[in-house]
Amino acid sequence: MVVNICIPLFCLLFIHIFSHIIPTNSLKNSATPPPLPILPLPSYSQLKWQQREIIMFFHFGVNTFTDSEWGTGKESPSIFNPTRLNPDQWFRVAAEAGISLAILTAKHHDGFCLWPSKYTDHSVAKSPWKDGHGDVVQEFVSAAKRNGIDAGLYLSPWDRHDKRYGNEKKYNEYYLAQLQELLTRYGGIREIWFDGAKGSNAPNMSYYFWDWFAMVKELQSSINIFSDAGPDVRWVGNEKGFAGNTCWSTVNRTSMSIGNASIVEYLNTGDPKGTDWLPPECDVSIRPGWFWHKSEEPKKLSELLQIYYNSVGRNCVLLLNVPPNSNGLISENDSKRLTEFRNAINTIFTHNLAENCLVKASSQRGGKGSGFGPENVLDPDHLWTYWAPNEDDKKDKWIEIRLGNQGLRFNVIMIQEAIGLGQRIQRHEIYVDGKRVVSGTTVGYKRLHWLGVEGVYAKRVKIKVVKSRDLPLISSAGLYFDPYLHPNES
Ligand SMILES: *[C@@H]1O[C@H](CO)[C@@H](O)[C@H](O)[C@H]1NC(C)=O
Ligand SMILES: *[C@@H]1O[C@H](CO)[C@@H](O)[C@H](O)[C@H]1NC(C)=O
Ligand SMILES: *[C@@H]1O[C@H](CO)[C@@H](O)[C@H](O)[C@H]1NC(C)=O
Ligand SMILES: *[C@@H]1O[C@H](CO)[C@@H](O)[C@H](O)[C@H]1NC(C)=O
Repeated sequence: MVVNICIPLFCLLFIHIFSHIIPTNSLKNSATPPPLPILPLPSYSQLKWQQREIIMFFHFGVNTFTDSEWGTGKESPSIFNPTRLNPDQWFRVAAEAGISLAILTAKHHDGFCLWPSKYTDHSVAKSPWKDGHGDVVQEFVSAAKRNGIDAGLYLSPWDRHDKRYGNEKKYNEYYLAQLQELLTRYGGIREIWFDGAKGSNAPNMSYYFWDWFAMVKELQSSINIFSDAGPDVRWVGNEKGFAGNTCWSTVNRTSMSIGNASIVEYLNTGDPKGTDWLPPECDVSIRPGWFWHKSEEPKKLSELLQIYYNSVGRNCVLLLNVPPNSNGLISENDSKRLTEFRNAINTIFTHNLAENCLVKASSQRGGKGSGFGPENVLDPDHLWTYWAPNEDDKKDKWIEIRLGNQGLRFNVIMIQEAIGLGQRIQRHEIYVDGKRVVSGTTVGYKRLHWLGVEGVYAKRVKIKVVKSRDLPLISSAGLYFDPYLHPNES
């Protein structure tokens, strides 16, 4: 409220007490409301998932002991004997790598179950490990809890062992029974993973995905369901860890079928007109294979960083597979590489070089002091504080970071949208000292532009939104220097 300084104190109190009855149009200090959202929006669980950025996959099972990627289903449970199995060690490695969620292959295509399922004897119950009294899923979820990490599970629909496979009704009943075991015995599960892989022996058998998904949501309300078509998280369309250069979190779910190779391009880029919020997850292995093989080595640091820029830096969550070995432990070379990877990310991104810089904008919603100013992009609490331009601003919409008279060297530019209000930016450009260095498309939760080993030296960095669905809302912008990525070394 605006008051004259010569009004006595009791009058001020009076005005204060009755200020709620003053018509709102006279309240000069009331806040400008946030702009309306653009549908679709992420759910609470989807937003939490997105902010994890990197999660982990553990492929483990009979293949670990047979040096294969796809078991035949004829493996004897007697080969499963990880004498030093220690999921606490897996989660120490995961914690050191800064991971907050890890997913275990409870059953892979070979049909061998890592828990003693009462619906089959093809499981750990028939193995020499712990004299058949072991339960890898139980040890996995307990260790996750002890280490403060969330647990997820994969239950392969394709089953090369079970006799019921091929009989549509009987197999779907079996699958659903196992799903119920996994989601009722082991406490809270944060992500469940489904793929559409199918045996050539059952070309006409349908998986009852929608029955399965309904059961999953009934048993665990805060879980995210991953599949080609969601309903919460979608596949990115390849196993290389690369999202599309354009990557929307939105798609039309009804036009998608699970396990259909002709939709991989759609999965990779999403759909600006999509009616469903279904962000992509990039699954890739730290090694050439998904399961552990004695002869294989983890990817080089540069390769992992390239994957990071092309997954997390393209509006995705990176699901990095790190396969435990036949002793039941994560191999030292993998854990060393993961530590290097985490240290590199922390070194590059902990300090925003633009941190204390002045930021200018083309315009600002609600004018000065409205809470929507460009300084919000340097605020580390990024999602819900953002720069919003004035709606009447018909000209170019931009923010400009002033790096001072000395200027700065950087080779990574980061931008984040306030995706809590919908994904909006369709095209953007970045200029350093007036010269265009980036001509990009979508931004979404996070966009990273790597500008080469040398990077650029500049005094001004302008991020211009060329095209967007309604007003662009930028929650973060950052400049960094990455000394680690050397593409020709990967
Ligand atoms: C699958 O369906 C097709 C078309 O209906 C039929 O020709 C084929 O014999 C079926 N295959 C099996 C294995 O049942
Ligand atoms: C696979 O996707 C394409 C493209 O959307 C569609 O035309 C086709 O019908 C789908 N196939 C199946 C088996 O659903
Ligand atoms: C997705 O749905 C919207 C709304 O119905 C439609 O405008 C758009 O064309 C659809 N996208 C595709 C690729 O069909
Ligand atoms: C670990 O990496 C080193 C160096 O690349 C290599 O010499 C060694 O054979 C690897 N160890 C295993 C068990 O693969």
